[in-house]
Amino acid sequence: MIEKPLEQMGLRELRDIARRTMPAEAWHHFDGAAETKATFYRNPRAFRQYMFRQRIFHDITDPDIGIELFGHKLPIPAITAPVGSFSLIGKDAEREVAEGTDRAGAMMFVSQAAKFNPRDWRNASKSPFVFMAYMNRGREEVAQYAKLAQDLGFAAAGITMDTVRPVKIGDEVPLSTKDGKPRKGHKSSPKDIEWLKQQVSLPVIVKGIMSAEDAHDAVNAGADALVVSNHGGRILDFNRAALEVLPEVVAAVGAQVPVLLDSGIRSGGDIVKAIALGAKAVLLGRPVAWGVGAFGARGVERVFAILAEEMQRVLTMTGVACVADVSQSILVCDDPGGRWRR
Ligand SMILES: Cc1cc2nc3c(=O)[nH]c(=O)nc-3n(C[C@H](O)[C@H](O)[C@H](O)COP(=O)(O)O)c2cc1C
Repeated sequence: MIEKPLEQMGLRELRDIARRTMPAEAWHHFDGAAETKATFYRNPRAFRQYMFRQRIFHDITDPDIGIELFGHKLPIPAITAPVGSFSLIGKDAEREVAEGTDRAGAMMFVSQAAKFNPRDWRNASKSPFVFMAYMNRGREEVAQYAKLAQDLGFAAAGITMDTVRPVKIGDEVPLSTKDGKPRKGHKSSPKDIEWLKQQVSLPVIVKGIMSAEDAHDAVNAGADALVVSNHGGRILDFNRAALEVLPEVVAAVGAQVPVLLDSGIRSGGDIVKAIALGAKAVLLGRPVAWGVGAFGARGVERVFAILAEEMQRVLTMTGVACVADVSQSILVCDDPGGRWRR
């Protein structure tokens, strides 16, 4: 089979190549989700119920898709998500993800569950980084890494708080990629947010919010930004899609803090839909894994380029000049239940 140059490939082609070339164990781990995968499939479906309102009579040809976040100018409102197990894809995968994200000029959230520590990430690239802790590692290690991240000039620090029960792949809880030990859940408390705020002077981000109540609690405890996320469907089967939850979180705390979203972003159009519903930016989990699995750092760079081109197409075709001008008025909801219409 003759393959096209990377510069002409779309995300689905990168996924197909990654599926063929990634170690089978890594593919299974990345493509996996909890139990029946109902949440995993619901995530992209939630995006598909929104259609765009096409507008052609305007002068917009080159919309500006850049944003500013935590004091950093980003060329696209898409960020590499924290993923603890990039190293399953290959021994250099963590460095390649950092390099590819850097080449794209993008921001990267890094997980405490990764093999790389904050210094390794910093050595691998000059991207703006955000350190994402897991409280089950214990306060001492979290404080040590968060302070190191601050000293290394990271843009923010945060906690992934939704692993009250550990990730599941089908019916199994996988072993930790970092140390091979069984994964355990942990209690989550707004007090952990207050505590982290005392350890660092960086903005503190809370990931794994899926309700207005938790959003209020996190912001009252001092969270400076939230990530609406169901962990890519890997924890609670039959959870709502992250996109379905976004409006209630934005209504609850959107006036106070930036609300980010992940879980199910698969196109530039999906990014525009998330922003139209109130997200400041989105995180990319599996798409970055496909990029690095297929072509290393170049593949990750290509993922961002694909999404940027798709976003520009959508903004041009809906008559929007820049990200700040994206609003619900460019969407029509095709939900047969008629839950929300323009
Ligand atoms: C293999 C894998 C490992 C992950 N590891 C972490 C992690 O260590 N910390 C974290 O906050 N989220 C982790 N996540 C969740 C991602 O940050 C993100 O929420 C999710 O992948 C977004 O969904 P998407 O893959 O549909 O883009 C992981 C996801 C995958 C697929």
